Amino acid sequence: QTLSGRTVEALADYIISGKVSNICVMTGAGISTSAGIPDFRSPDTGLYANLARLNLPYAEAVFDIGYFRENPEPFYALAHELYPGKYRPTVTHSFIKLLQDKGMLMKLFTQNIDCLEREAGVTDDKIVEAHGSFARQSCIDCGSSYPEEDIKRHIDAKEIPRCHNCKGLVKPEIVFFGEQLPEAFFRSRGLPAQADLCIVMGTSLTVQPFASLPQMTREQTPRVLINKERVGGIGSGTDDVLILGDCDEGVRKLAKACGWLEDLEALWAQ
Ligand code: OAD
Repeated sequence: QTLSGRTVEALADYIISGKVSNICVMTGAGISTSAGIPDFRSPDTGLYANLARLNLPYAEAVFDIGYFRENPEPFYALAHELYPGKYRPTVTHSFIKLLQDKGMLMKLFTQNIDCLEREAGVTDDKIVEAHGSFARQSCIDCGSSYPEEDIKRHIDAKEIPRCHNCKGLVKPEIVFFGEQLPEAFFRSRGLPAQADLCIVMGTSLTVQPFASLPQMTREQTPRVLINKERVGGIGSGTDDVLILGDCDEGVRKLAKACGWLEDLEALWAQ
């Protein structure tokens, strides 16, 4: 057993013991809901429960590459709402930046496409955007990249951008169902096996292959779940700690136990 107990205090003792320098963090849409961005699967408030207005055959079709080719409007309607720049990082995003400032962040694996980790100051070399992001866009036919100013302008105006070369459909480099994850994901997916702590926050862990990342950690590596609900079998290991409830509250509790609460609030207030 690595921790002296499965409590927040035991976890904090471990984190500040000097033995922890390689933390892998794995996140999903739940860390951005308090910023005002809906998650996908929460009943009532999740995106998939609120897509009726887009007349989709099934909710996930909005992110399905085959469907997009025939019918790009629903995705662009959603992109108009979700496009980065309108939202502020949450205290949970700042907590990840704090881990980086403390020299403890090995890698952040995120499924989010809102770029809020970057906005909170986490640097590019630490982030694996497993489902891509709005940071780049390209033509789905000829692959040419497409300028950011142009896509912004089209999304703002609720128009569908077309490739300047071949008039094909342009898509932000977000991973759709039916598409391969970025190479960076496959390059880094072995890292959790070298981590000395794994923190999972704000994800239902339902979409593969991301959902398997927490299982890549070694058996003696403590895993922490900071989430509204229990997911992915985390909590069954001898060193698993569950901090169930709102993740902003959860990270504050953990930061407080580490003696970092003021640092965290100061970072978030910046
Ligand atoms: P989900 O919507 O599936 O899961 C969000 C999780 O966060 C759920 O377990 C919620 O209970 C929890 N949650 C929500 N708000 C929270 C809060 N304030 N505090 C703590 N927990 C909270 O989102 P993801 O797991 O990110 O993929 O979804 C995975 C992938 O499915 C997405 O990347 C997207 C989607 O289809 C693609 O588009 C390719």
